[in-house]
Formats: sequence, C-alpha cells, structure tokens
Amino acid sequence: MRPDDILTPLLGDTTSSKWFIKVENQPAILDAATLVALTPSDYIVLKCFPKETIESIRNTISEMQDCLTESVASLRRRSGFQVSRVTSAVSRLSKEVSDNMMAVFSVLATHSKVNDSQLHQKIVKHSTNLSTLGIMMSVLRGDNDRTTCEIGLAGLLHDTSILIQPDWFVMAPDSRTDATKRQYRSHPLASASLFEGLPGVPESVIRMIREVHEQVDGSGFPYSKSREKLHPGSLILNLADAYLSLINPISGVPIVASDAMAILCLHTTQGAFSREVFRTFLDSVSIYPVGTVVKLNDESEAVVVKSNKNKPMQPVVRLLPSGVQEIDLSQSKFRVIELAHTGEEMRSKRVSRADFGKALWRSELEIH
Ligand SMILES: [Fe+2]
Ligand SMILES: [Fe+2]
Repeated sequence: MRPDDILTPLLGDTTSSKWFIKVENQPAILDAATLVALTPSDYIVLKCFPKETIESIRNTISEMQDCLTESVASLRRRSGFQVSRVTSAVSRLSKEVSDNMMAVFSVLATHSKVNDSQLHQKIVKHSTNLSTLGIMMSVLRGDNDRTTCEIGLAGLLHDTSILIQPDWFVMAPDSRTDATKRQYRSHPLASASLFEGLPGVPESVIRMIREVHEQVDGSGFPYSKSREKLHPGSLILNLADAYLSLINPISGVPIVASDAMAILCLHTTQGAFSREVFRTFLDSVSIYPVGTVVKLNDESEAVVVKSNKNKPMQPVVRLLPSGVQEIDLSQSKFRVIELAHTGEEMRSKRVSRADFGKALWRSELEIH
C-alpha cells in the first residue's frame, strides 16, 4: 500500500507528500512514507499544511514558551527580565500569523491540547495560546504591527504572577477561602506590577495585563471596569482568554469547542463581551479546524477537511475510516456534529442548555 492510498481519500491531492499525520500515542509527527505500515484506526489526521510551515510555527511557539519559562525563573531570582528576547519572540509569532493564519490556528487548536501533568507547563501553554489567539484577532481587526505585538506581549505575560505563585491552582476548589478568592481576583494586578517601569514594556501592555479579566459590561475583575475605560486590546484578550479557559482549562475538564462558542455567543448578546470583538473572533476561529476528528449523530466518525465560513458549526467532513465519502454538513439535514472527538483520555464535556447562561470561564470564582 502506498501512502497515497491512505491519504488521498482523506484529503485529496497528496502528490506533494507534504501532508502529515499524528499517530495517537506517538508524539512524533510522521511523514507520509512512514504511514504505509499503519492501519486507518492507528492515525488521526492532524492538519494538512506544508510540513515546513507547521514546523516553523511550532518552533516559534516553543521559543515563546522557553522565553516565558526562563523569564519567570529570572524574575524569581530577581536577576532581571530579558525584554528584548521576549519581544522579538512575540514579533516572530506575529509575522507567522500574518503569513500563515490558518496554519497557526490549526496548530493552536489541534496540536496544543494541554495534557501535561505539570501545572507550570499548563500555565505556560495557556499564556502562549492567549498570545497567539490575541495576535490572530488583532491582525484580523486590522491593527498596526505595533499594537498587534503589544497585544501578543500582554497575552504572553498576563498570568506571570500565577506562574510565580500557582497556589490557586494547587488548592482543591472547596478549600479556597474568601481571602484566597480575593487574592486570585487581584492576580492581574500582581502580574502587571512585575513589569511596571521596565524599559521596553510599554504602558499599554501593562494596562492590558491588568484588564484581561475585565468584561465590557463591568462584570469582570479586579476593578469591574466598563467598556469606555478598557484598552481595545483588553477586549480581545478577555474574549480569547475566556475561550481558551473553556476549551483547555488549567484545571478541570475541557468543554467541547462548539459549546464553548455557543456560551460565548450567548454572553456576547447579553453584553459581557464586545460584539465587534466576537465577530473578529468568529473570523479567526474555525470551530472545527481541518484535521479535527468528530462524531456525527449516527455515531459515525469523520475528519474535518474544510470549514464553511458562513456556517462554522457545519464543516465539510469525510467519513472514517475509509475517508471516501465526503459530506458537506451545511447541506445535510441528518448529520450534525454531536461531539468533538478527542479520544478516551482527553474527553471534553458537553454543557447542558440550562448551564449555558453561567459564566463558566470563571466558574471557579462563582461569579455568575
Ligand atoms: Fe488570569
Ligand atoms: Fe489567563
């Protein structure tokens, strides 16, 4: 069997052999040639962008993660913070986003599920993801390069105080006292204070770090500021942080991406998020990125091969395991996605209709 026998039915033309696959339970990304020995049930399609593009994005993102980890270590030692290294990592990522937006999103969504057992690593990934998504939304909104990089920098640094003192996430939820909750609600201020006055960290970045958890209707924290008082970049980071906290929480079970989207949509109509920012968010986020394996309502499994821009909940899929039959869910009455399939170990939960109205992205604080 040739690689194309497996790949062509799934994704169409594979002549460039640039498609690549992630095999479950194996960390490495395999090239097409290695696939001949595999049966269809061994693999999931990760994405279908040129391998070099994905590798370059992965390198940039892991450089950002290293930068953040090392910065936190030097902040702990009080030996200074390498502003220029961090800012240049952020500008490289923002260039990747401008050049290859969809590939960056695919990496973000299908490739950075947080399953590390280490808390520190989870927070680092959350911060890097926020930076990436913030940059994507900023580029789509048409911000200039400087603003985009500032949003990316604020996203990267926004939870630094938690990285230095992760007590909140170490504690069992029912042992969190009112005093601890108050302390957690001020963590954006603690993060901002680490960078205040540092040459190379603009005041606007400090402001966005303070405002990541403020909602436009004044229901956020720590200051319950309302829209007029918020930096425009904070509106982006606030929505992106809420989304990432739902689909990839630092603690707790991830929520199915389509439910997360529906929750954010409902809260946008109720005023918690900016409508314009939500529209930009919909443009930047394909709910089911290419390569996502999903389950249909007849229990069959399928892989997403294309998104429908105007119907983000109904992409084009191919049925697994053969991948021969293609279904455009926007044209189909009978097949709807019920569950984003993430495998036994990483099951995402569905949210009941009754719970959609709850502010689940900050449920640990019991602010409803
Ligand atoms: Fe935070
Ligand atoms: Fe966060």
